[in-house]
Amino acid sequence: MTDPVAAAAAPYRVTLVCLGNICRSPMAHVVLEDRLEAAGLGDRFTVTSSGTGGWHTGDPMDPRAAATLTEAGYDASRHRARKFSIDSYAENDLILVMDHSNEADVLELAPTVEEQQKVRMYRSFDPEAGPDDLEVPDPWFGDEGGFTRVLAMVERTSDALTEHLRPSAP
Ligand code: 4NP
Repeated sequence: MTDPVAAAAAPYRVTLVCLGNICRSPMAHVVLEDRLEAAGLGDRFTVTSSGTGGWHTGDPMDPRAAATLTEAGYDASRHRARKFSIDSYAENDLILVMDHSNEADVLELAPTVEEQQKVRMYRSFDPEAGPDDLEVPDPWFGDEGGFTRVLAMVERTSDALTEHLRPSAP
């Protein structure tokens, strides 16, 4: 039987998923942690991130992503890339994906249909997103401006997400 005290104390677990886990999901991860901490909810949630591809496993953030975060006052230094795996389902309560290709890859790995219910498009929480505009565009191949646009997107989405998550705090 589940210990009700232990169950109540267990943090709600959110994970952010992109392709490489060196640009988009790490930026979303650092900013969401910052917002939850600022809201006094830091100990009620765990935030992690990973990529569906494993090429960068163990690597720090892309230097352009790190510079964009650092300039805006965030700590980008602790990130190390991880690969999304089937275990990520059992390890998380909410799985937020950055684009439709990540969504398809993550859903394909789901152990059960019930586990698939944990998956949402990250930008479905963005107050400025529309039904046909739900992706965080990959800045990896683009210019520096792409990283600034991703930061603005993840800042407003993290604010909205913090309010959405608040009632899920244990
Ligand atoms: P991310 O960007 O998915 O936002 O981390 C990428 C980083 C690396 C690669 C692709 C996307 N890559 O092909 O190595």
